[in-house]
This record gives sequence, C-alpha cells and structure tokens, in this order.
Amino acid sequence: MTSPPSPTSPSPPAPVGVPPVSSPGGRSARADFDFTRPAFRRDPYPTYRALRESTPLHCIETDRGTRFWVLTRHADVTAVLRDPRMSVERGFPPQPPPLAPGVAPETLHPVVRALRVVSRVMLFRDPPDHTRLRGLVGRAFTPRMVEALRPRITALVAELLAPLADGEPFDVVAQLAEPLPLLVIAELLGLPAEDRADLKRWSDDLAAMLDGSIALQHAQRAMRSGPEVIEYLRGHLEARRRAPREDLLSAMLAARDRDENLDDEEILATALLVMGAGHETTTNLIGNAVLALLRHPDQLARLRAEPGLLPSAVEELLRFDSPVQATSRVSRAPLELHGRTIPPGEEIGLLLGAANRDPEAFPDPDRLDLGRSDNRHVSFGLGVHYCLGAGLARLEAQLALDGLLARAPRLELAVDDDALAWRPGWLLRGLAALPVRT
Ligand code: HEM
Repeated sequence: MTSPPSPTSPSPPAPVGVPPVSSPGGRSARADFDFTRPAFRRDPYPTYRALRESTPLHCIETDRGTRFWVLTRHADVTAVLRDPRMSVERGFPPQPPPLAPGVAPETLHPVVRALRVVSRVMLFRDPPDHTRLRGLVGRAFTPRMVEALRPRITALVAELLAPLADGEPFDVVAQLAEPLPLLVIAELLGLPAEDRADLKRWSDDLAAMLDGSIALQHAQRAMRSGPEVIEYLRGHLEARRRAPREDLLSAMLAARDRDENLDDEEILATALLVMGAGHETTTNLIGNAVLALLRHPDQLARLRAEPGLLPSAVEELLRFDSPVQATSRVSRAPLELHGRTIPPGEEIGLLLGAANRDPEAFPDPDRLDLGRSDNRHVSFGLGVHYCLGAGLARLEAQLALDGLLARAPRLELAVDDDALAWRPGWLLRGLAALPVRT
C-alpha cells in the first residue's frame, strides 16, 4: 500500500471519473481534518460528526495561500448541489482553445491530446455544455438498457461466487466486487472481456488522480495511462463507426449523428467517463456493504429473512458507508453561509459521507437500519450532475448481495476486524481486501 503524501502537498489536477476534491492541506487541515491518519481512514464518521456539530462551515487556509471550505450538514450539501450558481469548472482540466485550422489532433503530443479529451468530460462542465454531453449518453443509457443487463449480471455473479460456494477461501473485494463492475462496463460498452486487466489498470490510475491525498504519487502513471486508454477507446469507436453493434459505443455514435453539435473529442470524453466512473465506486459499494452486514449480524439476519428488503437495504448501505465520500463546487457568486461569505472562485468541499450521517436528515444516523424509510442519502450526488450510473450500480449491488447471501448461508469474516486494510486515499472509500468464509 502506498503511503499518503504530507497533507501540505499541492493539489494536483483531477482527470476523470467521480468528482475531484483537492487535498485541503495546510495547518488547520492537519489539526482538524487529517485524511492521512489511519484512524480517520478506518472510521471517518466521528471526525465528520465533530465538524458537523462544531463548525458546519469549516475553512481551511492552505499552505499555498488559498482557502478551501468544507460543508458537512445535509441541508447545506444538498442546497449547494442544487444551486445553479455553482460550477464544476474549477480551472482544471483547463479548457483548451479550438484546434487551429489544418492542425490534426494526431499531430499533438499524446498528453496534450489526452488533456483535451479529459477537459470535455461532462463531470467537469457546466450547462450548456454539460446538458449537450449528458444528452449524448442519457439517450443511450436508459433504465431499460440497464434492466436488460439483469440476467447477464446474475450469471456473472454466480460464476464469480463459484469458489465460495465450493467452500474455498474467498476475498469479496478481489473475487466479486472488483471483477463484476469491470466485466459489466466492458460488456455494456462493447469492449472485449480479455482487456479487463488493462481496463482495471487504466481506471485505477485515473481514479487515484481524483484524490488529492494520494494523487501526486500516481501522477506519472496517470500521464501514461491517460493517452493509452484514450487511444484504445478511439480505436474501438472507429471500429464501431465502420461496423455498428448492439453496444453503448455504437448507441453513442448514433446519438451523435443526430446532434451535429457534438465533436469527436466529446464523444471520446463521454466514453472515457462511462468506462472510468463505474469501477472503483461500485467495487467499494459492494465491499463496504458486505462489511457493514458482517458487522451488524441482526441486520444480516433480517435481510436473509426478508429478501424483499434488498432495494431498501442497498440504499441504506449506500448511506451508511458512502463509496464516494465527497465532491466539490466553486461558487460563481458570493455565497452567504453560517454568518460568513464564501467569495466567488473558492473551492467548497461537500462531504457526502458526513451529510449522510446528519441526524437532522436521518434519525439515529449511526444505526444501520435496512428498512429505513425516507432515505434521502446523497451518495450519488444531486442536481444536474446526479450519477448517471446510479441505476446500474444499484442493480449490481443488489444482485451481488443476493447471490452472496444465497451461496453463503453462514457468511463470516475470515480475519480479525482490526486486520482489515482500507485502500489508500480518502475520496473513494473502500477496502483493500475482505476475506470471508462460509
Ligand atoms: C456505487 C457506485 C457509484 C457511486 C457511489 C457514484 C457516485 C457518483 C457521484 C457522487 C456523482 C456526482 C458527482 C458530482 O456531482 O460532483 C457521480 C456522477 C457520475 N457517475 Fe457515478 N457513481 C457510481 C457508479 C457509477 C456507474 C456504474 C457509472 C456508469 C456506468 C457512473 C457514471 C457517472 C457519470 C457519467 C457521472 C457524471 C454525471 C454528470 O456529470 O452529469 N457512476 N457518480
């Protein structure tokens, strides 16, 4: 496992996937909110509670002379996510100028080409660009298309769980939670399953760049992986243009043909985002969910007894230990909050994991209650950037849990709880391994 850099490291750019949050860094960050402490990694929720109760608007002066604001209450986080004055255009990735006439993209340096593509990712664009880009994939990525994947995901889960059903040692993360989303996204996009190791490496390298607390260590790998994955997807898109198939890449090309306003870089950026955004997030959802159930045997027994609880159980497990702990926004206008004014242009961190444990929104928030009603968690964000893959992630988690419970009648941890290791980084929260036995 890589060790995190000093909290004072400058925050590097965030290229792709789920939302970027700078590593706040700076003196007060070390004192109050140190992402790098192993105890915080193991259980960030007491720190979140303290912040929520004592300083609902927390200001971090960084060593770079900038300020980073942190919101932890559900009402504040949801208000900011819904506020049209907020922007996701944080200055990185920089918006490149249009190519000069006669300059072909192939003649640019591969890293420059990759950055041009990443800058068109919808997660980093405000309306109206965001609206156009989301329309491209929204038309192709429908609830019906997701539902059509149910039989295939069920079969994949059964295949992946075969060793556990045979009584062999089983790591829920490595053997179920990691391969499942990879295989599903590859099939959805129409990419060969044999490329799964490359897809995993590229996604890991790019996802690590989202997290300011570990990004610097991964910058070099991301510089290599970014151009590689973009060339890979470009090749597949060109093949689909010549010979369309029944897959999402072909559907996106068809949607593009109906909207002349979308260019090649935008379609590539959208394919890259769909490819990258659904891996580690879904892996972490499944891993965190199984751990929470193992730590709450009463709730595990309840789910076994009432399988109809599965959809509400997945919502509660998403709330209880969010796979994505935070996102951020920049305000375009001065923002008055808790008696202070956040000036335009300063970054505001929104702690989704903290908002999900706010007692004002969730009675008895630290209790896992699989039957919880009115569960307005923010694990998939909110507003115009609400997670496009939420339906798919929910389906994968439901089928993975269903399969696991059916094949493991006496599921238990195969190591001491204290020995469990979390992945490096804070933004994407998930276990490095989850050994179980039945
Ligand atoms: C448990 C799994 C997942 C979690 C927790 C998650 C979380 C999130 C969050 C919090 C956002 C909003 C970011 C913001 O507002 O700044 C987001 C956006 C997004 N997610 Fe997910 N995600 C998951 C799975 C997926 C999957 C499976 C896909 C695709 C197959 C996906 C595709 C996207 C896309 C394309 C966006 C950008 C939407 C936009 O900018 O309009 N996600 N996700």
